[in-house]
Amino acid sequence: MAVSIQEKKRGLLIGGSGLIGGALMHYFKTRTPDIEVLSPNSKKLSLREPADIQAYFDRYQPEFIINAAIAAIDSDAHLAFEVNYLGALRLARLAIERRIPYIHFSTAATLPPGENLREEDVLPLSADLANYPKSKLMADHTLAHLHRAEGLDYTTLRLGVVYGKHDHKIQGFHRLLFSIADEAMPVLLTRRGVRHSYTHSKKIPPFVHYLLENRQEFSGQVIHFVDPEPVELDRLILTIKSYLNVSVPRRIYVPYPLARLGKVVVGWLVRRLAAIGIETRMPAELLFLEHFYKSQTLSAERLLASSYQDPFRDVTVFSRLPDLIEYYIARWEHLNLITSFNPDRFDPKHRVDAFVNDPAALLETVHQRGGELPALFQDPCNGRE
Ligand SMILES: NC(=O)c1ccc[n+]([C@@H]2O[C@H](COP(=O)([O-])OP(=O)(O)OC[C@H]3O[C@@H](n4cnc5c(N)ncnc54)[C@H](OP(=O)(O)O)[C@@H]3O)[C@@H](O)[C@H]2O)c1
Repeated sequence: MAVSIQEKKRGLLIGGSGLIGGALMHYFKTRTPDIEVLSPNSKKLSLREPADIQAYFDRYQPEFIINAAIAAIDSDAHLAFEVNYLGALRLARLAIERRIPYIHFSTAATLPPGENLREEDVLPLSADLANYPKSKLMADHTLAHLHRAEGLDYTTLRLGVVYGKHDHKIQGFHRLLFSIADEAMPVLLTRRGVRHSYTHSKKIPPFVHYLLENRQEFSGQVIHFVDPEPVELDRLILTIKSYLNVSVPRRIYVPYPLARLGKVVVGWLVRRLAAIGIETRMPAELLFLEHFYKSQTLSAERLLASSYQDPFRDVTVFSRLPDLIEYYIARWEHLNLITSFNPDRFDPKHRVDAFVNDPAALLETVHQRGGELPALFQDPCNGRE
């Protein structure tokens, strides 16, 4: 039965163009006819502009808020503080004022290294923390405080390393995949057996939906939303290498002091190149080089003990690898970011052959069909899952 606009529950999603926000947006667009989610981009609603936020709330009266926005992880203190901390605080204040739920995302970067870390095991807040973990940790503390002091109805999902399609910025796990595909990782920048927790982006939206429907159980909680089994970094890298059939990285484990020295050299080179007008950047992930050498696994106990039944429980980064590799390699080739892989493997239907070799015949076919595309083109390889 069709649901009229007035009957729909309306929510506000900030960060809908990002990796996690995009997955959420797609889910609510396609799976929840009774929920409408508005997702203004940061030009329309910037978390740095209180007036933007207020105007949006006054106009659309959302009944819940999901905040999946962050400043780039290598942002300066100003941007990280304003977007990641003040932005979260501003949204939380509106959630209190309007008595609506607020779903927030946090990160494993707020936790120390270690195994089976619980939600409470956060890093001590100190001035030395990098801007990203510091601002995210402060937001975690303030939301908990506002829940205790003013009854904020919030839930924070703390994620591990996120994998999934549509990471258009190529960050985190996808940067690792890119480096291997680009054969830019000659050796292993990790130690044997280092493990981390991973989160599949597609698992997040059904859980957020469930959270919104079960406020009593989840209000005021931080939940580690990770795949229950941690992932060994060297095994993951070598599995990707074998899928891609590339010759590097070699199975040589670079010790941390040497890797750190390499990072210092790259930093020096970046500065020298800037001095002669060549703009280049150190990959943001190198800021967290130490992370490649230390295990950090998050306990999923709280999630598993909750009433939520994960429909994708068996999905892991390893089970998703073939599909992710096919998607990202095709995408990066289209964008000319990497050189060619086996075209039969990554464009099995030779979708663009006619466009490349015989555009006139292709045009004729399309015109003859009254503008309808031939079947070959009706299944774009970069479509949503
Ligand atoms: N990706 C991971 O591996 C990972 C791991 C752990 C935790 N997380 C957490 O998951 C959440 C989402 O991360 P993500 O990876 O999806 O981020 P992302 O892909 O980098 O997307 C960031 C989003 O934030 C928006 N944004 C930036 N500045 C904004 C501003 N001033 N006002 C409003 N929106 C703004 C961007 O919108 P525009 O494009 O319109 O600027 C974009 O939609 C974050 O809380 C992050 O800490 C992510």
